[in-house]
Amino acid sequence: MRKILILLMMFNFCLSLSYAATEQEMMIESKQAIKDFAGKLKARLMEGMAKGGPVTAIQICNQVAEDIAKEVSEKQGWKISRTSLKPRNAKNTPDAWEKSVLQSFKKRQLAGEDISKIDHAEILQDNGQSVFRYMKAIPTQGLCLSCHGEKIPPDVSEKLRQLYPEDKAKGFKVGDIRGAFSIVREIK
Ligand code: HEC
Repeated sequence: MRKILILLMMFNFCLSLSYAATEQEMMIESKQAIKDFAGKLKARLMEGMAKGGPVTAIQICNQVAEDIAKEVSEKQGWKISRTSLKPRNAKNTPDAWEKSVLQSFKKRQLAGEDISKIDHAEILQDNGQSVFRYMKAIPTQGLCLSCHGEKIPPDVSEKLRQLYPEDKAKGFKVGDIRGAFSIVREIK
């Protein structure tokens, strides 16, 4: 009986060790995927802004963000997306877990944490399947203000109104948390 107990404890210990290793590895991979996604998105955004200003760049955000997310997701075999407590596109509305993490990010920022470093990883059970989830805060920068700031130019505002009648992603200031990248990956 005792032997079985010890064996069971050892098994449990190994399982938690292997989970810890997986979580650590997945976190590193997730950070890399987000870097890749954010870099591609920013490059396309700046290209669009340089070509035709924010009104042209809106189209890029609108069409390209999803394509890049798909491309990065498929390459890695997981799902990567962007979300926010104040989304522009209703498709980016957070699920319950993402909402609670976004709220905790806000609290962490208020407590003095540097938002460029705010992130959260967790292994959860979803219908009997273990999933790894990771979120990383997205800071608002100067570049974002013409489309997410307090004073959006009228032509940009008009275009946004046409495309996103339920737009909530306005009124941000530099240093605010604009939203977060979110990754979901099944653990085999
Ligand atoms: C040219 C206008 C424009 C600029 C500049 C811009 N965005 Fe956006 N942003 C958009 C549009 C349009 C969407 C909706 C995209 C979609 O339909 O998925 C969006 C969506 C987002 C989302 C997804 C959540 C949501 O609200 O739907 C995040 C996060 C975001 N932007 C962050 C940023 C950050 C950070 C910057 C600055 C680095 C930035 N944006 C600059 C137009 C812009």
